[in-house]
Amino acid sequence: MPHALIVGGSGVIGRAIALRLAAAGWQVRVTGRSRLPAELHTAGVRFVAADRADLRRELAAGADLLVDCVCYTADHARALVELAAEAGSTVLLSSKAVYVDAAGNHSNSDIEPRFDGPIPESAATMSPSNIDYNSRAGYGASKVAAEQVSLDSGHTITVLRPSRVHGVGNRRPREWVFVKRILDRRRSVLLRRRGSGIVHTTAAANLAALVETVAHNPGTRILNIADPDTPSALEISRTVARHLEHDWTEVLLDDQPLGRTPWDAAHPVILDTSAAMALGYQPVGDYATTVAAQLDWLMSAARSGDASAILPADDDPYFRQFFDYPAEDEFLRR
Ligand SMILES: NC(=O)c1ccc[n+]([C@@H]2O[C@H](COP(=O)([O-])OP(=O)(O)OC[C@H]3O[C@@H](n4cnc5c(N)ncnc54)[C@H](OP(=O)(O)O)[C@@H]3O)[C@@H](O)[C@H]2O)c1
Repeated sequence: MPHALIVGGSGVIGRAIALRLAAAGWQVRVTGRSRLPAELHTAGVRFVAADRADLRRELAAGADLLVDCVCYTADHARALVELAAEAGSTVLLSSKAVYVDAAGNHSNSDIEPRFDGPIPESAATMSPSNIDYNSRAGYGASKVAAEQVSLDSGHTITVLRPSRVHGVGNRRPREWVFVKRILDRRRSVLLRRRGSGIVHTTAAANLAALVETVAHNPGTRILNIADPDTPSALEISRTVARHLEHDWTEVLLDDQPLGRTPWDAAHPVILDTSAAMALGYQPVGDYATTVAAQLDWLMSAARSGDASAILPADDDPYFRQFFDYPAEDEFLRR
């Protein structure tokens, strides 16, 4: 029975990978600081309580596959390389946030990036840096530094670059901007840029399918991972409304600050996933098919009465910007 160790495996990505591998007959252990989600326990996944700073080489000994979901810096990558020496092959979770356009702008810049088309793995990235990875300037640059340390190590390490991830257990479930609106019985959905914005979605389930493919084809490489389709903000709003059987009026806005969504980019941000496909990876499904599990999970949490543990709080600084109901009502009254 092959054996996998997933560092930071109880979040949205680690959880999907653990479930996928366990279902395929792997013995899976995940590390984290708090606890194992019940779904993983039921699937036979084992939990190792450990901060990543406390991971010892012995933990990875004999692992056919090592996956790191909490590698954000060059220092983290140096620790990963130590573990990778004990494992058959390794996967490092990076991000599409590393990419820069011709003007040097990236996903977290003040000026939105303008890419020429689907972004291949060979596209330019930010320069590596060790500034705070929790900052807008530092996240992508620190990921580049981590990638470089890993790829230069001589170990068999695949770097994955997902885009905006959706899936069960998501700590930032972006579709909440539409789910909450439906729970709040809003009769209208306002969409900036007429809902035409695209920031590629990545189902955790599709990413997990790629990890299984990589496990059978170890290599030292970088792979983009995103859904086979590229839904716009309008299409995402329709997918959510359809799944939750909600009717609302779409208000498509041209140059209003209202109607913000996580996908309302000025220019499309789309990942070229042909390298993953060439490796033999088969997506589990398109966006509408794969996002259903996260939508059901959000609804079940909201209805359980114990939503506070996992749903974004009303004062969450990221989500607050999407729910300016008084301003919307005033606009609609005009
Ligand atoms: N989610 C996205 O949209 C997205 C997009 C692109 C790239 N990525 C990358 O993908 C990776 C995984 O993201 P994710 O969204 O799955 O993250 P997540 O949901 O926040 O999960 C992180 C996991 O790591 C554990 N963890 C956090 N800090 C830890 C520490 N110091 N030591 C040990 N375990 C720790 C957490 O559990 P405990 O709290 O119990 O420790 C949790 O299981 C990240 O590297 C991220 O940069 C994510």
